[in-house]
Amino acid sequence: MVASLNRRDVLKVGLFAGAAVALPLERVAIAKSTIDRIAASKLPRPFTVPFAVPPVATAVPTADATTDYYELTMRSNQVEILPGLKTELWAYDGIPAGPTIVTTRGRPAVIRHINGLPPTHPALGYTSTTSVHLHGSASLPEYDGYASDVTQPGQYKDYHYPNFQDARTLWYHDHGVHHTAENAYMGLAAMYILHDELELSLPIPHGRYDVPLVVRDAMFASSGALIYDDSNHSGLFGDVILVNGRPWPRMEVERRKYRFRVLNASISRGYRWKLSTGDEFTVIGTDGGLMQAPQRVTELRHGMAERYEIVIDFAKYPVGTRVVLQNLGVPNAVDFDTTKQAMAFDVVADPTDLSGNAIPDVLNPKASAMDLTPTPGTRTRRFEFIRVDGHWTINGKTWEDVIKSDYQYVWADPGLGDVEIWEFVNKSGGWFHPVHVHLVDYKVLDRNGKPPFAYELGPKDVVYVGENETVRVIAQFGPHQGRYMMHCHNLVHEDHDMMAQFQVGPPGSGDDPIWADVAKAMPAPAL
Ligand code: C2O
Ligand code: CU
Ligand code: CU
Repeated sequence: MVASLNRRDVLKVGLFAGAAVALPLERVAIAKSTIDRIAASKLPRPFTVPFAVPPVATAVPTADATTDYYELTMRSNQVEILPGLKTELWAYDGIPAGPTIVTTRGRPAVIRHINGLPPTHPALGYTSTTSVHLHGSASLPEYDGYASDVTQPGQYKDYHYPNFQDARTLWYHDHGVHHTAENAYMGLAAMYILHDELELSLPIPHGRYDVPLVVRDAMFASSGALIYDDSNHSGLFGDVILVNGRPWPRMEVERRKYRFRVLNASISRGYRWKLSTGDEFTVIGTDGGLMQAPQRVTELRHGMAERYEIVIDFAKYPVGTRVVLQNLGVPNAVDFDTTKQAMAFDVVADPTDLSGNAIPDVLNPKASAMDLTPTPGTRTRRFEFIRVDGHWTINGKTWEDVIKSDYQYVWADPGLGDVEIWEFVNKSGGWFHPVHVHLVDYKVLDRNGKPPFAYELGPKDVVYVGENETVRVIAQFGPHQGRYMMHCHNLVHEDHDMMAQFQVGPPGSGDDPIWADVAKAMPAPAL
């Protein structure tokens, strides 16, 4: 691996190492010196901005009683994120970290995503084509946000979502080819919550005690504009942590259990969470929904795109206690003093409602993928995430090879219903890769031959493949045939060009991800 680094890569790795050593000096200059970063004194002090939950989208009333219809417009919006300044975001309906879609198993949804963005990016100048992926959904290929299935500004596409899976925390985000990182960084990412009967029947926190936390980092110019600097396609690191679009917010909590759905929506930053009290918290859900059994931990390593549902019990803290959600950091993230914490919980009152204040020993005994076990005949495929000549590749190939093959080239071709072990290999000590496979949930078998972490003992669709780690997962491929993506969820790596595809079923089977349902020009007919 080291041998394949060119001189520029070596310099870059050196630069990162230098930045890490220099910490905790504030605001280490990895950004180009030409960038006019906002002064630290202009950033709000941590825990001064009130916490808020993004608004929930409302369905469009139609004559169809069986399906929920939504219409969302991606648009530019000037939002006050830092006090006294306006920041241009691109967001669904212009809403920071929102709107959240809340739905129930068994009710399909159709979401009309209208690309109402300005024709080009304000600073980078590329054409603002989009593709919307519902991450965590087993969607048909043409509704999966295939990177090259793009919607141009002025077009719309109706995405159909089956919602037949177990209750889970999903998210929808941009997946447009080569500009996913920039588009998501501008704000095109939000949560999608799927409930089901089992989950709603459990005595775990629900309603206002079931709280989304969309966490990301960002860097701002003195004008308030977002700065996009991916250090020559290495990674994108900001010094401001936003939770639900707000910098280091302060949330008031009662003395009882809360359930937090924590999504790492950062482009490149991993987190290692810990409570300032050092106390345990309980993980009850992973990417694919509830675990079989809750897991108590004091720390949790959280890669990009992973979702963890955690329960924090504030009952033991006297009114007046502040509990800070701290980030201990992960190797090869560029840290700042300001990224060592995400938000604060201020215990302000006794509970007003004690329903859903328990964590049963059994959550979802039939959790998706968790009953899969390898047999001697189980096929294993190996995917090496490797930097070759300045490109991020999977087994030496990239999405450019897919494009050159007219979208036919595939890395793997499991049959419909096949169970396979996929082995993700990262031989580098210089970076980590959160590896995401579309369509399926998987069970993590092991990491470097050792059992997965306690908090990974649930259905997953992204797994943290750390420095010098080999992670094995097992999945059953289905329920749809067709071509689906798998990629590193460091979106800078993904765009340049660590993204592959696989075909479920025989060659050519399944709907075509690009041509089966193409974007159409506005104005659109009524839903
Ligand atoms: Cu969250 Cu292929 O994406
Ligand atoms: Cu996905
Ligand atoms: Cu990567």
